[in-house]
Amino acid sequence: MVRFVTPLLALSALSATALAATTTTCSTSSQCPEDKPCCSQYGECGTGAYCLGGCDPQSSFSIGSCAPMPVCENKSYKWDNLDNTVLNTKYLGNASAADWTYSGFPKTEDGNLLMTMPKNSVGTLFANNHYIWYGKISGKIKSSRGKGVVTAFILLSDVKDEIDYEWVGADLTAVQTNYYWQGVLDWHNSGNASVNDQDTFDNWHTYEIDWQPDQTQWIVDGEVKRTLKKSDTWNSTANRFQYPQTPSRLQMSLWPAGQASNAKGTIDWAGGEIDWNSQDIKEKGYYYATIGQVDVTCYDPPSEAVKSGSNAYIYTSNAAMEANIAITNNSTVLGSLGATGLDMTLGANSSSSASSTASDSVPTNHGGAGGMAINSTTSTGTGTGSSSGSGTSSGSSSSATGTGFSQGTDTTTTKGNGAPAQGERVLRGSLFAVLVAVVVLVTL
Ligand SMILES: *[C@@H]1O[C@H](CO)[C@@H](O)[C@H](O)[C@H]1NC(C)=O
Ligand SMILES: *[C@@H]1O[C@H](CO)[C@@H](O)[C@H](O)[C@H]1NC(C)=O
Ligand SMILES: *[C@@H]1O[C@H](CO)[C@@H](O)[C@H](O)[C@H]1NC(C)=O
Ligand SMILES: *[C@@H]1O[C@H](CO)[C@@H](O)[C@H](O)[C@H]1NC(C)=O
Ligand SMILES: *[C@@H]1O[C@H](CO)[C@@H](O)[C@H](O)[C@H]1NC(C)=O
Ligand SMILES: *[C@@H]1O[C@H](CO)[C@@H](O)[C@H](O)[C@H]1NC(C)=O
Ligand SMILES: *[C@@H]1O[C@H](CO)[C@@H](O)[C@H](O)[C@H]1NC(C)=O
Ligand SMILES: *[C@@H]1O[C@H](CO)[C@@H](O)[C@H](O)[C@H]1NC(C)=O
Repeated sequence: MVRFVTPLLALSALSATALAATTTTCSTSSQCPEDKPCCSQYGECGTGAYCLGGCDPQSSFSIGSCAPMPVCENKSYKWDNLDNTVLNTKYLGNASAADWTYSGFPKTEDGNLLMTMPKNSVGTLFANNHYIWYGKISGKIKSSRGKGVVTAFILLSDVKDEIDYEWVGADLTAVQTNYYWQGVLDWHNSGNASVNDQDTFDNWHTYEIDWQPDQTQWIVDGEVKRTLKKSDTWNSTANRFQYPQTPSRLQMSLWPAGQASNAKGTIDWAGGEIDWNSQDIKEKGYYYATIGQVDVTCYDPPSEAVKSGSNAYIYTSNAAMEANIAITNNSTVLGSLGATGLDMTLGANSSSSASSTASDSVPTNHGGAGGMAINSTTSTGTGTGSSSGSGTSSGSSSSATGTGFSQGTDTTTTKGNGAPAQGERVLRGSLFAVLVAVVVLVTL
């Protein structure tokens, strides 16, 4: 089984060299220690923010190390301002107080959200703080454009179940669709959906993922483009459905797959190396994807679901299948950045604790003052394009992730199960989108 953690581990090993030597890495075969029990999606152990969205229960100290997950909420999101968003250095798990956690360079313009990517940056990521356990997500979206530039609209669970839309800026006539179960790579999982008037950058289209317990559909402008049946994902060797089935968060991102330091496969998949002197960079100062209204409709949980409350999803077993999720009254809010799922209220009464940013309680800023530098050479400097895109965001200073992109090269290590070349390329690119998204979020 090839897992996300393989590249994640490699990635975090890399970045660890750029960080304090105290970084502890984690995977399903090497769980976190008790004092830093939470394995972030980045594959590093810590407390506080490490235990929130993206915390992987299978790689953490124990099943209860990660904080419980806020339940699904029916909601429409509009973008007159960024009032319902928060930097993850500020988020302690109260999804009622902030719907989205972000990093990078968001702006609002004409009631839309612009996710921007200034020159030599790693772009922007938005993650919704409410988990969805089956539901329909819908986004009115104009993709980015340009070779090497990728926009993503995905559902991602903490054990790396994933359902994707990805727009590769070199081809504005189609959107790529993909899914994963627990991060296992399978080159059969991806597909392309043509988009009617053949320009995903210039024109609004509505992209939906209709995720149900027995099937998933990708729907563009009301037309079903692809259907994945759960029954078609049966693995008779393992006796299980390898179908996305765990509570997932909606993530939207813009990222530079075609950055020169990435793996060749990733760059090829993305249509080539990014041109940092393109029309968009010259005229606007950044690449951008435009997000209009986003709607989330929650479906009822599976009928057999264990239900003792209505506030949070929790994992009840490391198998992390549909039957191993319960809906409870557990709180989702940490008392401080020193707290974990094992001691949720730690530090709650200490006035200073929430602002503490020890490197193992909020994954640290790798790149200085908002630089989001592409490589570690530049990451400690003032960064490039650090302020041009921060726009109306409430806190533009701490979103850098210097090592984000040297990581592309490591996705090549995930291929080793005989995938055909083309499939590898597609998967690598696709997988990498998530890695990057995750890395950007977690290290912000
Ligand atoms: C949920 O709450 C119960 C009762 O307070 C507690 O025993 C349990 O450890 C909590 N579970 C998690 C995952 O936080
Ligand atoms: C979460 O935030 C909401 C809205 O700001 C607030 O009313 C509520 O008390 C908070 N809950 C916790 C547990 O902090
Ligand atoms: C999707 O389209 C792109 C660009 O046309 C192509 O490179 C890729 O192989 C296609 N993927 C699939 C799964 O057909
Ligand atoms: C099915 O499960 C077996 C046993 O875990 C695993 O080796 C194999 O790779 C799985 N097949 C797929 C397509 O994931
Ligand atoms: C969300 O709305 C759907 C359909 O309108 C409804 O069936 C469902 O119960 C609602 N769920 C929640 C959590 O409010
Ligand atoms: C969960 O909370 C609801 C509403 O507050 C309450 O009615 C219910 O009894 C609680 N369940 C448990 C198991 O405590
Ligand atoms: C915080 O302080 C209040 C009032 O002093 C007390 O009731 C509560 O138990 C304390 N909580 C924690 C987690 O220490
Ligand atoms: C990193 O950035 C520096 C300064 O811009 C540049 O000289 C170097 O070639 C870059 N390294 C990589 C691997 O892109």
